[in-house]
Amino acid sequence: MPDATQDPLLEVNNIEVIYNHVILVLKGVSLSVPKGGITALLGGNGAGKTTTLKAISNLLQSERGEVTKGQITYRGAPVQGMDPAALVKQGVIQVMEGRHCFEHLTVEENLLTGAYTRSDGRAAIARDLEMVYSYFPRLKERRKSQAGYTSGGEQQMCAMGRALMSRPETILLDEPSMGLAPQLVEQIFEIVKAVNEGEGVTFLLAEQNTNVALRYAHHGYILESGRVVMDGPAEALRENPDVKEFYLGMSEQGRKSFRDVRSYRRRKRWLA
Ligand SMILES: Nc1ncnc2c1ncn2[C@@H]1O[C@H](COP(=O)(O)OP(=O)(O)OP(=O)(O)O)[C@@H](O)[C@H]1O
Ligand SMILES: [Mg+2]
Repeated sequence: MPDATQDPLLEVNNIEVIYNHVILVLKGVSLSVPKGGITALLGGNGAGKTTTLKAISNLLQSERGEVTKGQITYRGAPVQGMDPAALVKQGVIQVMEGRHCFEHLTVEENLLTGAYTRSDGRAAIARDLEMVYSYFPRLKERRKSQAGYTSGGEQQMCAMGRALMSRPETILLDEPSMGLAPQLVEQIFEIVKAVNEGEGVTFLLAEQNTNVALRYAHHGYILESGRVVMDGPAEALRENPDVKEFYLGMSEQGRKSFRDVRSYRRRKRWLA
């Protein structure tokens, strides 16, 4: 199993992100993504998952966001300030939350747009199209359909397939389960696993669905209010009582946060 301490491909070191010059959203986030692994970035609404992924892929600028502290390195070299297309050439591609496909293009045309940064010729691209279809047979069936008319699950597949067409080393996958029925979510994660094992693609995926993410990831980081509150091998996180209580099983009051747990414990100690 890939170990986060060995051969880190992507490293985020103590980054701070501020939106609109004033809104501090990430408050010192660090994480390490090992080559060939599936790393999950977990946490509830507004925890900072998407912001972390966008900081890595340099997509914050268009949102008036800025990395104001810390470093991000890929294969040991800093990637801050690199434009997203240059990063794709380095092998890092992001699949955005909400699966952005070109609605008016067919599924196959969408997939082909993913190959635009490549210069290795049509035969290689045609081979990779077949590779994508082997992981996503559903896309092959729908290849002539206009993407805007396909289902949410198919659009997620289309967005992932399009990313694969750039022959990435690393995919940053934002909330692949969003709005999908449980069975489809499972199917999407099975494909992530198959691509990880079959093509050796490294994944960093952001997910609110802790349960499914921790069953497929090797390592997980839990974010709360812009800070990593816990990380560890997925297996250990699945067994952790706090994770079980606050992220896996819903308690009666719904989801609480680690901060509540901590202050509760502090109170208990105080009173004891
Ligand atoms: N462009 C922006 N300008 C100002 N604040 C923003 C912007 N984008 C995000 N935020 C704020 O930053 C915080 C983190 O948001 P982010 O989208 O990273 O969370 P997330 O973990 O991806 O949440 P979700 O699970 O809902 O997608 C939130 O409080 C959000 O309101
Ligand atoms: Mg998000």
